[in-house]
Amino acid sequence: MVSKTISNVLKGILVLVVVASLIGNCVLIWLNTRRTPKCPARQVNLGQPVVHDERSAVFADLSVEEFHQVSDYMTKIPGMSISTDPLSPPSVDYLYMIDLSLPKKLDVLNHLDTNGPKPAREATAVVFHGMNNNISEYVVGPLPNPTYHYDVSLERYGREIPLTARPVSAGEYILIIKFLQHVLKPISTLLLDSFGIDASANPAYYQNMPSGVKSGDRQTWFSLCRNEEGFYIHPVGFEILCDHKSTDNMSWLVIKVLYNGQYFDSILDLKKQYEAGTVPKIIYKAVPNYASLKPRNKPTGVGPQQFYAQGERFSIKNNHIVYLDWSFAFGMSPLQGMRVFDVRFRGERIIYELSVQEAMSVYGSVTPNLMLTKYRRQLGYWSVCL
Ligand SMILES: *[C@@H]1O[C@H](CO)[C@@H](O)[C@H](O)[C@H]1NC(C)=O
Ligand SMILES: *[C@@H]1O[C@H](CO)[C@@H](O)[C@H](O)[C@H]1NC(C)=O
Repeated sequence: MVSKTISNVLKGILVLVVVASLIGNCVLIWLNTRRTPKCPARQVNLGQPVVHDERSAVFADLSVEEFHQVSDYMTKIPGMSISTDPLSPPSVDYLYMIDLSLPKKLDVLNHLDTNGPKPAREATAVVFHGMNNNISEYVVGPLPNPTYHYDVSLERYGREIPLTARPVSAGEYILIIKFLQHVLKPISTLLLDSFGIDASANPAYYQNMPSGVKSGDRQTWFSLCRNEEGFYIHPVGFEILCDHKSTDNMSWLVIKVLYNGQYFDSILDLKKQYEAGTVPKIIYKAVPNYASLKPRNKPTGVGPQQFYAQGERFSIKNNHIVYLDWSFAFGMSPLQGMRVFDVRFRGERIIYELSVQEAMSVYGSVTPNLMLTKYRRQLGYWSVCL
């Protein structure tokens, strides 16, 4: 009896404790919720004055006018004869590229942080010296009216850059196409019967890069492709290795030929074996372009739309961007792509320059062209092909 009374009292106390704890928790939660800050639905950054830094101009890409100023200056250097014609043959001195030459960081910081003088605006001009068999990089300045240029190749790369390290320019490519038309003439029947390709017309080629496996090489595998949209994914299986090291196209040579998985030392070797029936022939069969990127049905309706629910949160002036608490300058280099400078958060610089320094893609394949293809982009990019 006594123990039953005690147990009832205990039960009562337990219930009271549970109820009190529930009430206590509710009160605490309510109090805390009231104190939690709420995000107001405010207009972000609008109304705040945006401050752009005009001094970001030190990082600005060359304008079209500046580009012409450099190009004009280069063609008029006494004692040199530099061509700007994109179709220039490899034998001439050709102005291949012009880009901004970034001022020294020390001078820029002096300008940005202590209001020092604006560094001289200069450009880098890359010349393929077909006459002297080298590539030279010149600094040209000061813009807008250049009065000086000096060769910085040794300073920047530590050695003379051989002409063979250059990429294939449009002018050289045109000569290569002519050369291939010429050397393929003896096997025009084979090309027509095997691939439905008329080599005297304008067939499409895909070429490997770099042109060779060691410094000084300039040998390239050209892969014959179906001449249609996205030709580079339609190789027919015919490849030809040419040596185009000489700046004189009359000295170019065919080194090897690949047909139906078999190598031949020359076009005539292939022709002889093909006609003698000692090489398995490919018989041409037309195939539709299965890889076309053109839409099969005409698109209808409106495409994806983009809009700013609360207005733009960024502001752009020249090459300077302000975005909320961030600000930075930007540029687009032909060698490094998109790059940003003087990245600041709440006015404090956290990055001076942010850009791609190196990128590489290595290909694989059953044919020599793509087997040897390695795309490599590096600051001081002549190492692409060295
Ligand atoms: C490359 O050729 C140019 C033009 O002839 C010449 O001025 C320059 O000195 C050469 N560069 C080197 C490193 O020899
Ligand atoms: C070499 O180039 C010249 C033009 O500079 C052209 O007329 C000639 O046909 C070319 N020769 C060969 C073998 O491609």
